[in-house]
Amino acid sequence: MTPNADRLGADWQTLSTFRHPSLPGWTRRPFTAPYAAARAWLAERMREAGLSVSVDAGGNLIGIKRGRDPSLSRIMLGSHTDTVVGGGRFDGMVGVLAAIEVARCLREQPLRHTLEIVDFLAEEPTDFGISTIGSRAIAGALTSEMLARRSAEGTLAEAIASVGGQPDRLGAARSDIAHYLELHIEQGPVLESEGLHLGIVTGITGIARFRITLRGRPDHAGTMPMAMRRDALAGGSSIVLALEELWRDGAGVGTVGRVRVEPNATNVVPGEVELWAEMRSTDPATLRERANAFADTAERIGRDRELHMEVQPLSYESPVPIADEMQAALAAVVEALGHQPRRLPSYAGHDANQMAKIAPVGMLFVPSRAGRSHCPEEWTDLADVALGTQALGEAVLRLDASLG
Ligand code: HGY
Ligand code: MN
Ligand code: MN
Repeated sequence: MTPNADRLGADWQTLSTFRHPSLPGWTRRPFTAPYAAARAWLAERMREAGLSVSVDAGGNLIGIKRGRDPSLSRIMLGSHTDTVVGGGRFDGMVGVLAAIEVARCLREQPLRHTLEIVDFLAEEPTDFGISTIGSRAIAGALTSEMLARRSAEGTLAEAIASVGGQPDRLGAARSDIAHYLELHIEQGPVLESEGLHLGIVTGITGIARFRITLRGRPDHAGTMPMAMRRDALAGGSSIVLALEELWRDGAGVGTVGRVRVEPNATNVVPGEVELWAEMRSTDPATLRERANAFADTAERIGRDRELHMEVQPLSYESPVPIADEMQAALAAVVEALGHQPRRLPSYAGHDANQMAKIAPVGMLFVPSRAGRSHCPEEWTDLADVALGTQALGEAVLRLDASLG
């Protein structure tokens, strides 16, 4: 299968233009006008590729190409086109555009299996405190508690409905998917540093996320003696450093990337702080133990500083091992294309974390320049995007021929 690199490049160029004009980088947050415009454009590309297009109950944009044997389960390809604030033009986008290009290349060559292409809704963390919303819905893991969560604009259920989903019709986990494959940028430095162009993912990190609210007392920053203060930001800062200390041994990573400070004034002792904390490890026991340890430490810091504390677990996704036979199948494809099959773990989470709950999953990586991602500098050479698309397509052909 030979993808059309020029067509892929033109698609990537156009998709990149759907972004918030007033936010940094190539920001395209879910449930926004740029996101809706991008999806309308993607739906057209899917139709042009000969796919029948719909939005499922979970708000995922789906293109389907019927297989010759309707009795077989489906081969699903997908990723996401939402970004973080200040994000780049490749995270998720590469996987969706590659999947559509694979469908185009197979237009005259129907597979045995039905091919399903998915742009999953809201893979990145949202104001509802959860990520991978669309793939969670397909995996039957979107709970009523999650659907009732509120952002400033309304509930998650309302947000899903706003993109064409039907949250009241969310069903059980789907059981008709034979394999799920995803092409994604590495978002790390390994492939580029070794001069390689294709990676085979061996496992995907687990992620535990918390929202921590600390309430102290706003006071005059000049007149209130230090010993009498209840400084919420000083307490929050101790928690940030405690999280860093917890992962100093490199068994995983911990980050507080988002903070709200009130009243956020130079000469007022911070009265209230909200922290969004996350931690990751590819080892299930380590992640579980340290998530619990972190919650206890945060509570202790709050008590010691006489701050009112709320430690709210937002989400917990276990690490996902990728089956040896899937890794071997992808390695054979990579070798057949004349490339070294470099196996490596993913410390980024993906929709594959959810899809692994209901189907065997496989992931291919293409290099990220200087390992950078979630920033405007995110870059992958389009030649690597085309190569990754070719590997994805070849993997589909092999799975289609081999699977029952
Ligand atoms: O946060 C992640 O790992 C992914 O980029 N959503
Ligand atoms: Mn991301
Ligand atoms: Mn991603």
